[in-house]
Amino acid sequence: MNPFKFGDPVEGEYYLPRPGLDRIVHQFLTNRIHVVLMGPRRFGKTSFVLNLLKKLEAEGYACPFIDIFNITSHRDFLQQVFRALKTKKSWTESAKKWLSNWRPKISADVDPISGQTSFGFSFDRSSEKEVKEMIQDVLSGLKNLGEKVVLVIDEFQKITELDDQGWLEATLRTHMQQLPNTVFLFTGSRKSLISDMLNNSSRPLYRSCQTIDFPSFDEELIDWVIERFIKVDVDIERDAIYFLKKIVQDTPNYIQMVCFHLVAAGYKKIGRREVEGILKNVVGQNAYAYQTLLTSLSPIQQRVLRLAAKEGKQIFAKELLNKYEISSGPAVSSAINALKRKGILDEEATGRGMVIFDDPLFAIWLKESFSM
Ligand SMILES: Nc1ncnc2c1ncn2[C@@H]1O[C@H](COP(=O)(O)OP(=O)(O)O)[C@@H](O)[C@H]1O
Ligand SMILES: [Mg+2]
Repeated sequence: MNPFKFGDPVEGEYYLPRPGLDRIVHQFLTNRIHVVLMGPRRFGKTSFVLNLLKKLEAEGYACPFIDIFNITSHRDFLQQVFRALKTKKSWTESAKKWLSNWRPKISADVDPISGQTSFGFSFDRSSEKEVKEMIQDVLSGLKNLGEKVVLVIDEFQKITELDDQGWLEATLRTHMQQLPNTVFLFTGSRKSLISDMLNNSSRPLYRSCQTIDFPSFDEELIDWVIERFIKVDVDIERDAIYFLKKIVQDTPNYIQMVCFHLVAAGYKKIGRREVEGILKNVVGQNAYAYQTLLTSLSPIQQRVLRLAAKEGKQIFAKELLNKYEISSGPAVSSAINALKRKGILDEEATGRGMVIFDDPLFAIWLKESFSM
């Protein structure tokens, strides 16, 4: 058994607990303060939330978990809400009764050929107006779900990408204020989008939530990784893990991914050289996608990316602009903004004005492709 896992959310022995963060978020939620957990992609937000929900459910909270990462419309949103509400054992009897009122809408269809059950949503043919009404009904119906409800919306910045003049944002806000039993927990991975949503006084969710920057792991992760390797009799140098952690911008997903491949490769003693080798393979597997992405950008955007990948934090330093053939500081700013809109760069959680790569492997690839 490989002691490392990556890609999907992790639990059990694959999950390193975050007791400090657990305590903080738990405290806010149980005091009915809505929370936004904001952190880069692949940092462990979903794993963290799922783990916290287990504890809250044990304390009697009903916790629907709505994943909206792939929604493109209100109908998709509604579908994800119903998916989250699919009857769970933990729902109370009155909650089940309330949900059964919706049954005509969420009747499970059995495919006559494959025999597979699929969630046939009979609102497939509903108009946009009907879908909006149903969203409102189902949200206000959450008061029937139990005395204590934590409603999670994972990757909630997606609602800003729906072209609805803020309708869903405003609708959520209304229910956040009106539902007496429900506290909202949001996670998000696009700092620039979320900051505007919460700090712009003309937007519905202005100051509606406590924002928490999702912290990166410290030494405890290094110790944990070493322990995991020991489980399969592999000896890894501490410095090699430091190196890995730094180069992947602290991203647990990539730390676990590289460690997974190190184990799979059968090494028994691991130093920095082995880590570099695996990293190179992993990055190389994405080369085609990175090349395609790069080609889709303007020359100035490409240069700014190269600059950000190679020079890190000094992205606005004057003497570097010339080196990367960039005409001016404002040219850097506007390229950065365009790259943020495309979701390639984002703001760093701490330290104002700094940028990070959405995908640290892309930064590694850029650095290597343009090194001399
Ligand atoms: N607490 C943790 N302990 C160990 N690995 C973690 C932890 N959190 C995240 N990971 C790693 O990161 C990967 C992605 O986690 P996920 O929760 O899906 O991140 P996010 O929701 O922020 O994109 C997991 O598959 C796992 O490899
Ligand atoms: Mg996630």
